[in-house]
Amino acid sequence: RRPLRIALLGCGVVGTEVARVLTSDAEEFARRIGAPIELVGIAVRRAGRRRDLDVPDDLFTTDAMGLVTRGDIDVVIEVIGGIEPARELILAALEHGASVVTANKALLAEDGETLYEAAAKAERDLYYEAAVAGAIPIVRPLRESLAGDRVTRVLGIVNGTTNFILDAMSTTGAGFADALDEAQRLGYAEADPTADVEGFDAAAKAAILAGLAFHTRVTISDVHREGITEVTAADVRSAEEIGSVVKLLAICELDRHGAVSARVHPAMIPTSHPLASVRGAYNAVFVESEGAGQLMFYGPGAGGPPTASAVLGDVVTVAQHRLAGISGVGESAHASLEIVPIGRA
Ligand code: HSE
Repeated sequence: RRPLRIALLGCGVVGTEVARVLTSDAEEFARRIGAPIELVGIAVRRAGRRRDLDVPDDLFTTDAMGLVTRGDIDVVIEVIGGIEPARELILAALEHGASVVTANKALLAEDGETLYEAAAKAERDLYYEAAVAGAIPIVRPLRESLAGDRVTRVLGIVNGTTNFILDAMSTTGAGFADALDEAQRLGYAEADPTADVEGFDAAAKAAILAGLAFHTRVTISDVHREGITEVTAADVRSAEEIGSVVKLLAICELDRHGAVSARVHPAMIPTSHPLASVRGAYNAVFVESEGAGQLMFYGPGAGGPPTASAVLGDVVTVAQHRLAGISGVGESAHASLEIVPIGRA
């Protein structure tokens, strides 16, 4: 069999781990996929030797567009992040016949529609398990495993940084500012923590989860958002006094009339609820559906190897689909549901 050709866009924390595993475990991947794989290019912003990676120097290129449009790539992995140039690169990759694996929650939450339509038109796969909650399998369970069920509610702790901060406030009695300092010192929170603490990161994930759960399109602008900056030590104590903990929740719901809502805000949840036991920087997603009942997905929501694990799982699946000639199956079946933007209604 001819090798499946893979191009990698981005070589940061996640991309480096993806490149490392694809090259060091190439034989195992070939067994799992059913054909050899070949990493044919890695697009980076700045040229330069990468001594930490055991790949030939000539694989690195600063010409990402040239790489995705050469026409012989089977799978493009996008781990650059952000809106552009990621969007134009993914669209070009699909147009030029590649299936795409991406971890790009910001892009999917802002303009997933354009990408899903392009994938359907090109009859190529667009997979994005890593875009929500890192290593936790939640995208494909909603998209595939639960496709024959009716999901009614998804509750997620989908931002590790804010969960770490709220957990620290609860265990130490600290206020928000001190807990944030600690999270930054330990490397959980970024120097500019806005995307996490103001709930933007969780809102992007909520939009993706709501779209998947209810088979519709939801963008980040449909999601009501409130972060954790106003949560005080007294709020955390009051919650404890009534047997609850404060968590930043992404809440996606389908009402009796078929309307969808998605929101992100701090919420008190009883300590008896499974989500209350999610400590530190971990993530969890709690799904309620008519048939399955209650399901909980739990694990590390960020970091190089966990996120790469989700990316690589997608690579195996889309590569298998290419070999079987079934790429893009099921991409276009989406009902249109009414979306209620809570807080802006
Ligand atoms: N900053 C995110 C978090 C990880 O804290 O969960 C990437 O989505």
